[in-house]
Amino acid sequence: MNHNIMGTTKVVGIIGWPVEHSLSPVMHNNAFSYLGLDYCYVPFPVKPDYLHQAVNGIRALSIKGVNVTVPYKERILPLIDELSNEAAQIGAVNTILNENGRLKGYNTDGLGFYKALKAAGINPKDRRAILIGAGGAARAIGIYLALKGVGGIILTNRSQEKAGYLKNEINKISPGICEVIPFNENSIKKVLQKGDLLVNTTPLGMSPKIEDSPIKSADFFREDIVVFDIVYNPLETMFLKMAKQAGCCVIYGDEMLLYQGAAAFEIWTGKEAPVEIMRKFLKSNLG
Ligand code: ATR
Repeated sequence: MNHNIMGTTKVVGIIGWPVEHSLSPVMHNNAFSYLGLDYCYVPFPVKPDYLHQAVNGIRALSIKGVNVTVPYKERILPLIDELSNEAAQIGAVNTILNENGRLKGYNTDGLGFYKALKAAGINPKDRRAILIGAGGAARAIGIYLALKGVGGIILTNRSQEKAGYLKNEINKISPGICEVIPFNENSIKKVLQKGDLLVNTTPLGMSPKIEDSPIKSADFFREDIVVFDIVYNPLETMFLKMAKQAGCCVIYGDEMLLYQGAAAFEIWTGKEAPVEIMRKFLKSNLG
């Protein structure tokens, strides 16, 4: 990466707290260099009391756009000027575009998940998705899949109340498409069918607690399902390791990170994202 920052350079970045571990700077800066685009991606650690000032700072400093991460994806909604259809439905923003001081919020998390599936040759239209978890990530994925037309959605979450809430939101988009089952392996196993897409959207298995997994028994997995873990640290979680050993088609969490980033890149630059370059730098920084 060799980029001279000049008076013409467009600045994009990420706002969140904390942001030190974000892989987005390396992914985007290498993509800008590869295409020779005069852009620069900067991490902006925004302390919790400063979100409002930071959003005004985007306008004041003519920052071209930002990614928004934890803990601001929902809190930022009332501070921006316009929402994409998906961001409004999901109720969270992970990407902002600044058009002459007018901030438009997008959500590329659901799209990133969808594109990761497509890249693996999986069409969710023909399948049921079983989502483990009902937090922000499950919400982005579930609502996006419902908007795109998925075969069905089954939610299972530690808090039944949260699962019930998300179910209602999803069923507003596509009536009757979503149901909730109890949060245990047996309940999931009972409903599991050939072709199903099983997704871990919880942080279970994330470093440093790498022995954790939403599914504990290796004999749970059957080879005719697709298994996706959105955890990417480590890439090979216990969940995916067991699924792979059972012969399942598995999709790693960095693919969702990659495609949500590629979509943000396209929103800011209007150019097709160099996905292979972004994947290469993402992988080399994930170890
Ligand atoms: P994110 O935005 O990354 O999805 P989140 O909104 O905090 O994060 O949601 C985390 C999800 O993981 C939730 O569904 C949470 O379950 P609860 O709704 O019951 O809290 C789930 N989760 C987190 N830690 C968990 C654990 N130890 N066991 C089971 N589920 C867990």
